[in-house]
Amino acid sequence: MKVSSHTVAGMLGRWQEGPGPAHRRLSDRLRLLVLDGRLSLGAALPSERDLAAALDTSRTTVGAAYRTLVEHGYLATRSRARATVRLPDDTPAERRADASPETLDLSLAAPTAPVEILHAAFATALEQLPRHFERRGYDRYGITELREAVADWYRRRGLPTAPDHIMITNGAQHALAVLARTLVSPRDRVVIDHPTYPHAIRTFLDVRARPLPVALTPSGWDAAQLGEAARSARLAYLIPDFHNPTGTSMSASVRRGLRLACPTVVDETMTDLALEGASPEPFALHMPTAISIGSVSKSVWGGLRIGWIRATPSLLERAEQARLTTDLGTPVIEQLATAALLNNRQTHRPEALRQLAERRDALRRALAEHLPHVHAPRPPGGMTLWATFPDPVSSRLAAIAPEHGVTIAAGPRFGIGGAFERNVRLPYTLPPDQLTRAVRSLAEAERALTRGATGTHTPAPIA
Ligand SMILES: Cc1ncc(COP(=O)(O)O)c(C=O)c1O
Repeated sequence: MKVSSHTVAGMLGRWQEGPGPAHRRLSDRLRLLVLDGRLSLGAALPSERDLAAALDTSRTTVGAAYRTLVEHGYLATRSRARATVRLPDDTPAERRADASPETLDLSLAAPTAPVEILHAAFATALEQLPRHFERRGYDRYGITELREAVADWYRRRGLPTAPDHIMITNGAQHALAVLARTLVSPRDRVVIDHPTYPHAIRTFLDVRARPLPVALTPSGWDAAQLGEAARSARLAYLIPDFHNPTGTSMSASVRRGLRLACPTVVDETMTDLALEGASPEPFALHMPTAISIGSVSKSVWGGLRIGWIRATPSLLERAEQARLTTDLGTPVIEQLATAALLNNRQTHRPEALRQLAERRDALRRALAEHLPHVHAPRPPGGMTLWATFPDPVSSRLAAIAPEHGVTIAAGPRFGIGGAFERNVRLPYTLPPDQLTRAVRSLAEAERALTRGATGTHTPAPIA
């Protein structure tokens, strides 16, 4: 895949800052972009001349940076072709972030499966499956039982919804990808929270849209700025409930007052994860035109791969067409199991939420003890802390942390333009003793960085 000079410049952010010669700073930043996955393997970089122009620097600087990357095995060159991203041949398997079983994984924000509940749901699903045998099993809207169960989930929360307002998808990420292909054309602007969910950024870049970031401040969403940005946008994508990565929720007053000039997709994947008080009301109660996406990945288990879109039947018809080229429907048995979970009210599990709140508090205590200079506000829900370090160490920390036994997702993956180099997202889905160990490892990794160590680990997958 070709990456434009404009995109690379955006990812590099303020690369000029810091000590040492410019070409060294540039090659270091590019190497970190490879290591944290923002420049994917095989990506074709812009020519030296184009990148120099986009960065407002000399071609000699870019040429020297590229040569350093070639020397260290991070770029492959062929004559008359663009340089492509690679990894050094001697990157041993155990240095790949997800290879060691002892490594604690703080890059995925996802729960393990609730065994008994899932077992019972699949037992019910197996009993009901024969009802579907006379049909072909290809259904791009989803089976009636699950569309009805999801519609009922909205109705119970006060939002009138009919089954024909629901399309079942293979997770919320799939729902977003289908909507992006339905609603967005190349060069369209898409308003995003900043920071936001990394795979959403990737989804919009894949349809060649231009993300238009609106900062999420410590006090939350700024309705005026969102309104202004939406005027030039084709779509807005917001995560108003226990936002990933910050855990913040949009206040009732902002929800009530928000009027956006473009269609708005609200990602309600985290809705069932209120750790204090009640779950937020469905966003579409206040903005009836909102297109909602949801999922049981966080409230039950990501392995179900079940999500949905709530929208008008006419938009769902267009989404059905956009879906055709990527998949032809969602497995029936998982849909039946999810319908059983929803009908038995098992996407809201108070005991699991109590455990999650304990883990959140344990993680914050471990941070206060081992990384007291790190600021991590207490979120009212969701599964992640958004930690701020005093210095811009995030990408370097993510590259070295696996050597100390923990993987993390660097802050810049949650934004564009190289932002959030001071931030790290820390999920609290592991048991407290493992969270404490992970924070100790992170503190060790930070000390190693201050001694001048550098890491070479490939990025961990994110959820
Ligand atoms: C905000 C948000 N949207 C979507 C997803 C993807 O969800 P799913 O597993 O249902 O595809 C996630 C997963 O982390 C998420 O945090």
